[in-house]
Amino acid sequence: MSTDQTRKVCIVGASGKLGQYMVRHALDRGYEVVGVCRERSVPKLAAYADRITIVPGPTNDREVIRKAVAGCDGVLTVLVPWRVQQYSSGTAQAVLDYAEPDARLIFSCGWHITRDGKDQYSWKFKAALRIATVLARLVRAAEIDDQVEACRRIFASDRRWTVVRGSDLEEGESQGLPAWSHHVGDPVLASNLTRRVDFALFMVEALTDDTLVHEAPAIVGCRSPSALTHGATSRARLN
Ligand SMILES: NC(=O)c1ccc[n+]([C@@H]2O[C@H](COP(=O)([O-])OP(=O)(O)OC[C@H]3O[C@@H](n4cnc5c(N)ncnc54)[C@H](OP(=O)(O)O)[C@@H]3O)[C@@H](O)[C@H]2O)c1
Repeated sequence: MSTDQTRKVCIVGASGKLGQYMVRHALDRGYEVVGVCRERSVPKLAAYADRITIVPGPTNDREVIRKAVAGCDGVLTVLVPWRVQQYSSGTAQAVLDYAEPDARLIFSCGWHITRDGKDQYSWKFKAALRIATVLARLVRAAEIDDQVEACRRIFASDRRWTVVRGSDLEEGESQGLPAWSHHVGDPVLASNLTRRVDFALFMVEALTDDTLVHEAPAIVGCRSPSALTHGATSRARLN
């Protein structure tokens, strides 16, 4: 199965903000869409109910994922670390185990994930991450380390994956496909801001972009000052 034959995609975490934007972009491309979300969140997808198939359930439930990804050419997965329940790693592992052999697998996360340790973080970023990690675990709201573990497993996999690392996000109309670079700290990324709708656009575009297989692009809005100043090369990589 080659990526230009993408017809049917599964969106894991379809009811969230990023997920709903991805549903919209995928439908705009004419893809058949299967969405996975928690049972209580199914009503959030009411606007798409007659156009997509919804598989309700926790995204780290292996049976739910096995059923949802069957026959899909691509799987778009929102990795979230909520609560202390290995939610990210459980979700990622199920997708890695059950997606069709040649499916394109696209995962979302934040800039804090590093693939090769060459990302350059400011002291402020590192301090904020450390505090958030400890506090979130203390009150059992989230385990940010588990998103790190999820990505470690993805990076070690020989599946056709891409891990899209999002900057800080904002709402607003689409500005177009974000610019990207290999490492946080690269000048093109300095603005650290992307529209969420364009994060979703990048995820969906990645389904059919084989140059992104086994890449972990860090993205930034294409109209952000740093992208406008330094981004021509980065954008060219996606063309
Ligand atoms: N927020 C940021 O500033 C930011 C920055 C960079 C990267 N990212 C990345 O972008 C992606 C989307 O993040 P987002 O912040 O924009 O959120 P989002 O799109 O609204 O997605 C949140 C997801 O988490 C699920 N969720 C919420 N509470 C949960 C719980 N207790 N148990 C299980 N699942 C729960 C939601 O499902 P329901 O619909 O069922 O509630 C939804 O699928 C993530 O991969 C994140 O790492 C975010």
